Amino acid sequence: MKIGIDQMSFFSPHLYIEMSDLAQARGEDPNKYLIGIGQTRQAVIPPTQDAVTMGANAAAPLMTDELRQTLDLVIFATESGIDQSKSGAAYLQRLLGIQKYARTIELKQACYSGTYGLMQARDYVAVHPDRKVLVVASDVARYGLKTSGEVTQGGGAVAMLVSADPQILTLENDSQFMTDDVMDFWRPNYATEARVDGKYSSNVYQEFFKELWDRYRKQTGRTIDDFDALVFHLPYTKMGKKGLQMVLPEADELQQKELLAQFEASQKYSRQIGNLYTGSLYLSLLSLLNETPGLKPGARLGLFSYGSGAEGEFYSGILQPKYHAGLVSNQVPDLLSRRQGLSIAQYEQIFEQTLQGSADRELEIKNDPAQFVLAGLKNERRQYLKQH
Ligand code: HMG
Repeated sequence: MKIGIDQMSFFSPHLYIEMSDLAQARGEDPNKYLIGIGQTRQAVIPPTQDAVTMGANAAAPLMTDELRQTLDLVIFATESGIDQSKSGAAYLQRLLGIQKYARTIELKQACYSGTYGLMQARDYVAVHPDRKVLVVASDVARYGLKTSGEVTQGGGAVAMLVSADPQILTLENDSQFMTDDVMDFWRPNYATEARVDGKYSSNVYQEFFKELWDRYRKQTGRTIDDFDALVFHLPYTKMGKKGLQMVLPEADELQQKELLAQFEASQKYSRQIGNLYTGSLYLSLLSLLNETPGLKPGARLGLFSYGSGAEGEFYSGILQPKYHAGLVSNQVPDLLSRRQGLSIAQYEQIFEQTLQGSADRELEIKNDPAQFVLAGLKNERRQYLKQH
């Protein structure tokens, strides 16, 4: 039975900053950010958006009345959780109007848990072929003002429906995965910003990719010739490019050109948005699917998922004939073209306004055009609203 991603949808807030402005404000050469890091713009997350609202906003276009009544598993992958006990998926179930006889669960393993959610969903559908599973990967990538990680911030969510006979991509049963307890990036419970050993994290990412790629080739007998594109977790676009460059010498000249062109397509959206943590690999996939007109059904795509701490997985998927039908038409370009640019001073002000602590607070929601927003905190309860 073929199982995989049937539909995909995306959300990121309506605000952004230019990386050239940020470079100027931080006393850096703009080319360090634009070329050395490979980021052009960065999503800014207003206080009225969090992992839950962004997840709901991403998933909403996929919801039909039939799905609301039949969906019985919602998997929410995030490392920007808003509660140590209650799952963000329970909020999603209500906001999206999903029937109550459903399992809802939140997963955490840094940027990796979106991939685990997909694999769990695939296994569930293997046992229940008539069901669909909603997997939502949603995060705010936040390092802090004037830190070296600041240029790699961002945020947003990817929602995916997993089913039998999927429209977009089958998940092939060929995953290679590994874990190593390392301190490359983490966020202790008392912190709202990530801690990171930046250069070390980039090295561990590359080591994991190489080890899993070698293991994948040994276990499956496949080589680079079997792949039409490689898609990477993109904490910043240069990181994925470094990964690709590690395996390019295994390809002939023509294929090298093709793999590089596919990579360019896959990094287009991330370059404008920044890191999505759990959703980042799947934003790269969306970008590849939307921005590569020549992708042929039947193409084998290799996907590398990495989550600090650290866990990685390399697997492949086969592109399905009607993959365009599973994507929300023109969604990301429309969203990007409607965004509003901010000065660095405005961004810094918004950054400091993120909802923290336990005091009651009402948030100004009228400037946020999103369907789902966070309206404030009352008696230590988050007030989520559907605006339209
Ligand atoms: P940095 O120290 O400010 O930058 O931090 P740098 O000095 O290493 O420079 C970056 C690149 O720009 C270098 O290129 C420079 O040569 C180049 P590279 O050697 O890497 O190829 N450069 C220039 N290029 C052109 N013109 C110039 C110029 N100047 C310099 N004028 C770092 C960079 C990424 C470390 C920092 O931003 C950071 O710590 N970011 C956060 C951590 C991160 O994203 N790590 C990635 C791997 S871990 C991961 O993917 C997991 C994660 O998503 C979290 C999770 O799993 O939950 C992060």
